[in-house]
Amino acid sequence: MKKVIVLGLLGLSLIANDQFVDSSVCKGCHPMIYKELQDSKHIKTSIYTGKIHKAVWDLHPKKGQGDYNCAKCHSPSDEKIIKEIGILGKGMPTENKAQTKDPISCATCHSIKNIQEHVKTNDNIYNEKAKTYYSAVEGKNSEYKEESSFFGLFKKASGSPFHKIESNKIFATGKVCMGCHSHKQNSKDFTICSMDNIDYSAKNNCVTCHMPKVQGTATSIKITKTHSFHGFAGTHHREDLMAQYLKLNLKKQNTGFEVSVKNEANHPLFLHTLRVAVLKVNITRDKKKIKLEPKEFVKIIANDGKPAMPWEATTVMKDNMIKANENRLIKYDTQLQSGDNVEIEFGYYLVNPKAVKKLSLEGDEVTKYKILKTKHISIK
Ligand code: HEC
Ligand code: HEC
Ligand code: HEC
Ligand code: HEC
Ligand code: HEC
Repeated sequence: MKKVIVLGLLGLSLIANDQFVDSSVCKGCHPMIYKELQDSKHIKTSIYTGKIHKAVWDLHPKKGQGDYNCAKCHSPSDEKIIKEIGILGKGMPTENKAQTKDPISCATCHSIKNIQEHVKTNDNIYNEKAKTYYSAVEGKNSEYKEESSFFGLFKKASGSPFHKIESNKIFATGKVCMGCHSHKQNSKDFTICSMDNIDYSAKNNCVTCHMPKVQGTATSIKITKTHSFHGFAGTHHREDLMAQYLKLNLKKQNTGFEVSVKNEANHPLFLHTLRVAVLKVNITRDKKKIKLEPKEFVKIIANDGKPAMPWEATTVMKDNMIKANENRLIKYDTQLQSGDNVEIEFGYYLVNPKAVKKLSLEGDEVTKYKILKTKHISIK
């Protein structure tokens, strides 16, 4: 009898999925932003939309335990699983609309009120007021208003007829991203990845670099020249927008030359431990190409002296990833000659080629080598 009541209550709370409305609701008045989000990596974060995420999940011991604790970052808009985890302590995703179309929705992100810091992972604290969305613009606490001016001849509207708007500084500083992006520890209390200490006062932040202002109106009602890019440029999508923050240079020396790779980001250049960055230098001399040994930059996590998957790792085996704001100098002992053309190419693999087989991702497009930036220098 008791069991029936508990299940009954559980059923009720699982059905009441109304905290975050679907992103398709925002589409009507924010069509450009909606389209950008649809093409972004933030839509490809669930096991139904993210190939690498699914490949790792399929090997994860939590899968056998029915405990998809990835949900709070990879599909927070799926209120069914979030509630299930909240009540039962664990839960598994089902192929619903939030998982397949809208894992990190407009309403979810725009409802993040604050970030609560924890050792394991941070938490997003969500606004509980329905249909009140946060804005980065200071002093914007608006309800929809229509004002008449010039003796009622002109009507001026402000705010949104659909929702309220409140200012929230964390949307301007980028702190809003840190509930999910800051760091993560595994069950062995080992920190798998970390943004390190973010300097919020720097000229650029998460938002200015990954959501730059682009042409086109933010709403179809109140026309603006630009809006913040909601495609979240990064390693999977629109890396062309990120290349400007990586500076490649060359200095000729008496005994060879030095290439510098400057990371202007306030975090390690690549963050996920599956990534491998590659620096390739080629010299064209008398129409012949001299290929120098490529250099790799990685963070390899390990257990018992062997590279390990994130849930098994207990130590860092190697970390020569280019750090936040670092200008890395790499020496080559090849003597440069006048007339040489040097090509410096900086690229990366999303999935370490050594892990492709284990993840059953052979031949998949996500395993392809990608170029972030190329620079040509002719030696005088
Ligand atoms: C605290 C938030 C958080 C939790 C919890 C979390 N992740 Fe992630 N995960 C992220 C973020 C943020 C990224 C993007 C980081 C990046 O691109 O460097 C990411 C990226 C990934 C990637 C790389 C995907 C790709 O396409 O390149 C994999 C794989 C992954 N996570 C697996 C998991 C699995 C499996 C779980 C649960 C067992 C999990 N994550 C739990 C935040 C989280
Ligand atoms: C009926 C039209 C309409 C719908 C639907 C709508 N919005 Fe808006 N929204 C607007 C208008 C108009 C503004 C501009 C208000 C202003 O600047 O005075 C706006 C502004 C905003 C802003 C603040 C912009 C700023 O200046 O920083 C955010 C955030 C926002 N909307 C998010 C959303 C989200 C999330 C959804 C879907 C859950 C949504 N909107 C659905 C009309 C709409
Ligand atoms: C000065 C510009 C800059 C700032 C500030 C910045 N980033 Fe980046 N970010 C980059 C660059 C450059 C890359 C690497 C190239 C790429 O992603 O195409 C990158 C990569 C990433 C990636 C992908 C990493 C991976 O391994 O796939 C994520 C996720 C990310 N940044 C999130 C953030 C967050 C969150 C913040 C705020 C704490 C932030 N970034 C601040 C420039 C910046
Ligand atoms: C991952 C978090 C995140 C998601 C998802 C997200 N936004 Fe935003 N959005 C932001 C941040 C941060 C800003 C502030 C950027 C700024 O003002 O420079 C912003 C700004 C805006 C603005 C202000 C106008 C402008 O210049 O861009 C509107 C309107 C908006 N978002 C609507 C939406 C809608 C509609 C969606 C879904 C299609 C959406 N957002 C999804 C984080 C998000
Ligand atoms: C609710 C959690 C969450 C929030 C909030 C969030 N992200 Fe993410 N983000 C993720 C996850 C999860 C991934 C990667 C998923 C994967 O690869 O499977 C990701 C991926 C990314 C990427 C990689 C894109 C690429 O092409 O590789 C960038 C860049 C990024 N986020 C920037 C931001 C910025 C900037 C903010 C703040 C405005 C933000 N994110 C807020 C969860 C979040």
